[in-house]
Parts: sequence; C-alpha cells; structure tokens
Amino acid sequence: MVLKFKLYPMGKYNKIVTALFFTAASMLPSVVSAQQKSSITLNRQEKAPVINKHIYGHFAEHLGRCIYDGFYVGADSKIPNTNGVRNDIIAALKDLGIPNLRWPGGCFADTYHWKDGIGPKNERPTIVNQWWGGVTEDNSFGTHDFLDLCETLGTEPYLAANVGSGTVQEFTEWVQYVNHGGKSPMSDLRKKNNHENPWGVKFWGVGNEAWGCGGNMTAEYYANLYRQYSTFMADWSNTGDLFRIASGANVADYHWTEVLMREIPKSLLDGVALHSYSFVTWEKKGSSTKFDEKQYFETMKTALKMEELVSRHSAIMDKYDADKKIALVVDEWGGWYDVEEGTNPGFLYQQNTMRDAMIAGTTLNIFNNHSDRVRMANLAQTVNVLQAVILTKGDQMLLTPTYHVMKLYKVHQDAKLIPLQLISPNYEFQGEKLEAVSASASEKDGLTHISLVNIDAAKPIEVTINTESLAVKGFTAKIIASAKLQDHNSFENKDKITPKDFKDFKFRKGSLTVTLPPFSVVVLEGK
Ligand code: AHR
Repeated sequence: MVLKFKLYPMGKYNKIVTALFFTAASMLPSVVSAQQKSSITLNRQEKAPVINKHIYGHFAEHLGRCIYDGFYVGADSKIPNTNGVRNDIIAALKDLGIPNLRWPGGCFADTYHWKDGIGPKNERPTIVNQWWGGVTEDNSFGTHDFLDLCETLGTEPYLAANVGSGTVQEFTEWVQYVNHGGKSPMSDLRKKNNHENPWGVKFWGVGNEAWGCGGNMTAEYYANLYRQYSTFMADWSNTGDLFRIASGANVADYHWTEVLMREIPKSLLDGVALHSYSFVTWEKKGSSTKFDEKQYFETMKTALKMEELVSRHSAIMDKYDADKKIALVVDEWGGWYDVEEGTNPGFLYQQNTMRDAMIAGTTLNIFNNHSDRVRMANLAQTVNVLQAVILTKGDQMLLTPTYHVMKLYKVHQDAKLIPLQLISPNYEFQGEKLEAVSASASEKDGLTHISLVNIDAAKPIEVTINTESLAVKGFTAKIIASAKLQDHNSFENKDKITPKDFKDFKFRKGSLTVTLPPFSVVVLEGK
C-alpha cells in the first residue's frame, strides 16, 4: 500500500485535513490491501498551480512514417489533403486539441539544415536520414509546411534546432527567418518564398539529446554551447519572448540537470528537458501486442518511474530556481517496443494496446500532479512512430487507445490542479509491487475533473474519494477499458477500444465511490 501526497502553501484548514488523513491512514493498511480499496482526498487549494496545457504536447520527427507517408502525403496524393497534409489527421488532431507540436526531431534535429527545406520543392537538396533507416528524404516537408500545419491545427510550434552538426549562424538565421517582422536578409528570403508575415515561433529547443545522438557531449561542454547558442538566438531583452529549452537529461542522469542549472545563467534559460521512455528492458523490448503479464509489469515499472524522475529532477531545479521560473520539459516520453513484424527496424512502427493506455493515463496524472514544475511535455510520437496517437495504412487511419486517453484528459489543459492525497493498494506480480491506482484532479469553468487509472492486470479496485472540498452536485464519467491488455485498434476493427459512458460509481454528499475495472482509465466530470 502506498500513501502519496503533495501539498502547496496552504492554510490551517488543509493542515487539519492532512492530520486527520494521516491518523485515518495509519488505521487502514490491512483492510485496504485485503479488499483492494483505495482512498483519495481532494484538497482544493487557493494557491495550487494551473496545469499548463503544454503538458499535452506532441512530437513529430522525420522518422519512419511519421512525416512522409504519415502526416504528409503531398499535394498530388489521392488521399484528401491540405497542402499535402492528410485531412483526416488534421481533423483528428484538432479534435484532440493538441497545444504544441515538436519538430523536426529528435535525433534528426541535429542533422537537419533548415535551409534545405525551403524554396521550390523540386529544387531542394536531399538528406539521408542517418539515424532512422538511412532513407533518403527529398526535403519536400520543410519549415513552411510545418508552421502552416501548426496554424491549421491551432497549435504552437516547438522547433528543435540543430546544435550537434549546425552552427550558431544557422540557428540564429532560422529564428530570424520565422520570427523577424522587419527587413533583414532572412525575412526577405521568407517573403520571397511567399510568406509575408512571420509566424512568431515561441518554443525553441537548443539541440536534442546532446548526451547522445545530439553530439555525445558532456553536460559541462553542452552547458557552454547552450550559453553560446542562446546568447545569439535572442537580443538583450529576449524580444519575442522566446522560450529557450536546453537539451535535458537522459532518464536518471541527475548530474546533467545539476550542471545545466548551475552553469547556465537564468536569464538565458526557460526550460530544461528530460527524456524517459517505458519498455520491458532496453535490450529486449518485445512485441507491442504479444506480451505477457511479466512484460506488462516491467513496462509499467519504467512508466511509473516518471514520478521519481520528475521529483528528483525538480528537486535539483529547486536548489537553483526556488521560484520555479524554469520549466521541466519532458519532451519525449512514451512506450517503446519492437517494431511490427515485416516493417523497417529503423522506422519504429509499433501497435498501441491497453498497456499504452495505462502508460498514458499514469504519466499524465504524474505530470498534472507536478504541474508546478512540469509545464511542458511531448508524447513520442504523433503518427506511426512509437506510442502514436494515430496510425495510418494507405488511405486508412485509426485512433489508438492512447489517443482516446489524451482526448479524455484534455479537460485538464489549463485547469487549476486540485492536489490530492491517495492511498493505493499494490498491484503485485511475482513478489514485486507497484501502486495500482493513479489519480489527478483539476477544476476549470465550474467543472471538476478526476482522472483515475487502475493498472492492476486482474483486480478491480474500489476507490472512495472524499469530495467535501468540492461544490459539486453530480458526476458523469467515461471509461477506456477492454477485455485483454493486448487489445488494440486494428485496421480491421478500428473502434475496438473507444471511450464509453461509465456508471459504476456512487455519489453521496461529500463522498464518491468508483469501482475501477482492471487496467482501465476513468475520467469523471463533476458539476
Ligand atoms: O523518439 C525517438 C528518438 O528517441 C528521438 O529521435 C531521440 O531524441 C530519442 O532517443
């Protein structure tokens, strides 16, 4: 059984609630684990943070069939498209309400030379995608295509710029090309390429995975490079309010975060990234659909590790930035398995099951609960790569369970966090334990939302939620669940897993009791 809590600066009332809660909790353990019961106390607080919508960001790399034969089919395709981008994908992502989209990588970003992707398409040089399958790309999807797509989607672009094999000049010229409103060689070039007005890109990644494919640098070396690049990408007062994100740590590399926070002047830094994927083991990832419970358990172990990762990276950031001005940006997260049989191993195409719904639900709850520091994140990746929200095959498209989780959770975007205290039974497997229940809650526009996940592969869990601090008269709910963990949406059965109305809860004044089926995600709406 696990007890979890996080409190924000608060008054006497909350301290009393906490004290009562601890007293009650100390009496509960044996009962809780025997009956698979969980309890949650919602603790509305004046000073609780707002869950930044950018936590719900996405990531589109030039990798496999994410851009080419994914988003982008070209204007001449028979597949209905807008400027070459599939209309069905545009509609699905608009519906999902994606707040930002990261591009063009990933590892690809540090090989990408943006000038190769502007101007007449038939005159663009090719690029060999050295990290992802060694395929030759024709650069037909470039800066204009991406930024216009973002405008169509109503999403904020997040450009990851080349530090590993680029130059300071190339970087600063990209900033000028997309952002400069006045006269300059780069804004003239943009206008020549038929875009009069600048796009005004706010989010900029200064390289990617500098510790690996971004240049195999040490933290100390990268911190110096970051200082140099970020100095020239903006002016004295950072006109345009660029949000500059440093390439962050690989999983639990706390030294990396420590060095960046210590060595980079705060005036040059707005976000520090973190990458962490979920898998069985890195060496033996296993199939995305044919996995056993042990593999499921191991995957969830790495997914739930996110709680410790964001807590510890945040604690380091707190040492140097007590006011939490700098964001922790988890700009790559998600499940990573073996590619589907018969597909290019460099393309990272995998199916998406209820296991992925569990990863998405628990990870987003973790981010919500840490929204004082985690203010941006990007699921890897949007279409046809890793834990995709959309898969395509020819002219067909399907929405994955992960899509449906993110759509249910979109209610948390820019909502005020309701901190909670959670007692969870354990999900036990072969003598190991994980917290079975994950939860987060928020309020916005008179509505309260509570998202719950039960990762236990076999047992339902009854969750009792103390709602006394809410002024809610009633709840409705949706669920994502299925008969088997391995279930997924296929091109033969695209709607096997979709959100359904959920009624297995009781609400009496001040108390909500929800019975969560095994491996399910439930989002309740109260008003
Ligand atoms: O998302 C796939 C790859 O994973 C990215 O290109 C890289 O940044 C990470 O290692």
